[in-house]
Order: sequence, then C-alpha cells, then structure tokens
Amino acid sequence: MPFVVTDNCIKCKYTDCVEVCPVDCFYEGPNFLVIHPDECIDCALCEPECPAEAIYSEDEIPAGQEQFIELNAELAEIWPNIAERKEPLPDAEEWDGVENKIGQLER
Ligand code: SF4
Ligand code: F3S
Repeated sequence: MPFVVTDNCIKCKYTDCVEVCPVDCFYEGPNFLVIHPDECIDCALCEPECPAEAIYSEDEIPAGQEQFIELNAELAEIWPNIAERKEPLPDAEEWDGVENKIGQLER
C-alpha cells in the first residue's frame, strides 16, 4: 500500500516530506505534492514529518478523500521530481487546516 498526499497539502506544500523519502518518489506541482504509487516503498517515514498531516497510507485515507489516490498516480506521471526541501508556500499557515481545498489545486 503506497502512501498518498491528500487535500491539506494544497496551498501549504511544506516539503518536509521529501527530505526523509529514501527513494525520492515525490513530484511537485505549483501548490501541491504527490507520491508516485509505483515508486513508494511504504516505509512510512514521511507521514509523521508533514506539519499539515496530509500524508496517509492508501488504506487509511480519510473518508471523502479517496480521489487523491487516483490524483497522486496521475500527477506523478506529469510533474517533475522534487528531492530537496524548500520554503513552504507563503500563505501555508493560513491555509493549513482549511477543508476541501481541491478546488484550489493548480496543475
Ligand atoms: Fe517515500 Fe516512504 Fe513516504 Fe513512500 S512512505 S513516499 S517511500 S517516505
Ligand atoms: Fe505537502 Fe506535507 Fe509534504 S504539506 S509538501 S505533504 S510535508
């Protein structure tokens, strides 16, 4: 079961997660990160590192966020790899915890 980035990453993008991933399987869009499901080795290291608590194992995705499984797989094929931490988005703290940010996702 791969890990999946979910809604609360959107418009935050703290990137602490990429620092700990042993296989560099995170991919970066303008305001969201995704995990490549075929590259993730299910080590679980990234999950506790996310300040926004946006990362879940695929079998523990919160109800209503199932669409992020497909979205991670789709966007990981398109977006560039990210292997080093960078500054969070400027309004990250403001958006952290705001529900249902999927409409704000930039591709
Ligand atoms: Fe990377 Fe491990 Fe997180 Fe998968 S579970 S994205 S391999 S840190
Ligand atoms: Fe997003 Fe959390 Fe990583 S906000 S960029 S999944 S540390």
